[in-house]
Amino acid sequence: MHQTDDYIEKNRDRFLEELKLLLKIPSVSADKKSKKAMSHCANYVKDLLMQAGCDKAEICSTQGWPLVFGQKTIDKDVPTILVYGHYDVQPPDPLSLWESDLFEPVVGDGKIFARGASDDKGQMFIHIKALEAMTKTNNLPCNVKFIFEGEEETGSVSLIKFLESNSKELSADVVLVSDTAMISLDCPSIETALRGMAYMQVEITGPNRDLHSGVYGGAVSNPINILCQMIGSLHDADNRITIPGFYDKVVPFSEKERLEINQVPFNQDAYKKELGISEIDGEKGYTTLERVGIRPSLDVNGIWGGYIGDGAKTVLPSKAYAKISMRLVPDQQSAEIAALFGAYMKEIAPDPVRVKVDYIHGGEAAVTRTDSKAYQAAVKAMKMTFGKNPLAVYSGGSIPIVSAFKEKLGIDTVLLGFGLDSDNIHSPNEKLDLANFYKGIQTIPYFYRYFAG
Ligand code: BES
Ligand code: MN
Ligand code: MN
Repeated sequence: MHQTDDYIEKNRDRFLEELKLLLKIPSVSADKKSKKAMSHCANYVKDLLMQAGCDKAEICSTQGWPLVFGQKTIDKDVPTILVYGHYDVQPPDPLSLWESDLFEPVVGDGKIFARGASDDKGQMFIHIKALEAMTKTNNLPCNVKFIFEGEEETGSVSLIKFLESNSKELSADVVLVSDTAMISLDCPSIETALRGMAYMQVEITGPNRDLHSGVYGGAVSNPINILCQMIGSLHDADNRITIPGFYDKVVPFSEKERLEINQVPFNQDAYKKELGISEIDGEKGYTTLERVGIRPSLDVNGIWGGYIGDGAKTVLPSKAYAKISMRLVPDQQSAEIAALFGAYMKEIAPDPVRVKVDYIHGGEAAVTRTDSKAYQAAVKAMKMTFGKNPLAVYSGGSIPIVSAFKEKLGIDTVLLGFGLDSDNIHSPNEKLDLANFYKGIQTIPYFYRYFAG
């Protein structure tokens, strides 16, 4: 296998240049104006797959953004790996906090900075270059399929439908995903759980038009004031979510399991310092690792209404809005939680206002197996390249398609992520450490080899 390592070493600089081209494409899936960028990006990914040695690669159009499917078959008797990734990225906001142009990748301090560097273009690209290293050195031991989507950051709606109608084309022995983080280069880890999601939008309507806040203020209820009170009441004094029935299906963890979760190295002071906060916060009775790993949460992602321009405008607005996401854990169901949320918001809204609740998207939590051949292959591969056995860690993030791979295709996933929590994903100055990038490309061929047996 030194051949793949040598190939990667010899092609380091070219890999980086090609990654930059990928990162330059502004493939923001949430932006309806991204049509050109999304199709440009999908095409570039398709070309990269062909160049890496796929037998075929194609664009599959959907009702949303295009999917890219690629395939290389070497032998019907060896296992097949299905690699999943996403080429879409999060919106750039707040733009003013970026220290370099978000779509002009900059290398510095051993890192590459750009939107999508870690989530997920950089990590998806790791798989394409690993394939190239294997095909060009005659070291590909498995069949491989690639499915790359452009809607992960907006809920994977088209891909979920695509799984249903293309189960045969996508059949495989394992799904391999690099779209998560590891603790550090010195402390490799593999995430073994993802939270689910129910993403809601709330609209509160008060008076039939914006009013002068002096002529009417104090006499007519203000929808922003009311929305804030409603949101404020969604957590109690112990920081538990107050929606009736919210915790009914949450699977409790045993003391032993909780001890295990807390074995992972975690330095609370460093955590606070890194985030610039003086205290941690969260549900009473749980540690930080438990709060993100095994407990659900509810967060306002955005809130608006009235006047937010420069200076002041005295207005009592007609409407107020909020986007609210709930992270879910097994066995909470996103549709059920969305319905509970909607009913409760209507119940707690005082009479003078009307409430409209929309369910934007959702997905289910997933726990990946650690007793499988695939997981063990990932452990051995990481041990090979990072020099240590990786720890299993519960993640707080969500990748809705992972539970769908299991439910619709019956395939287990391994989350072999090479990002770091400090990568600033979804934030200004997103980056990927180049050491993680190259180690990732090295690790994948070992995974293939151990998985092939
Ligand atoms: N790659 C992330 C998910 C992630 C991040 C998992 C860090 C583990 C660690 C993914 O791109 C993402 O951001 N997903 C969304 C899903 C949502 C839009 C349904 C998320 O978690 O907010
Ligand atoms: Mn991602
Ligand atoms: Mn993301």
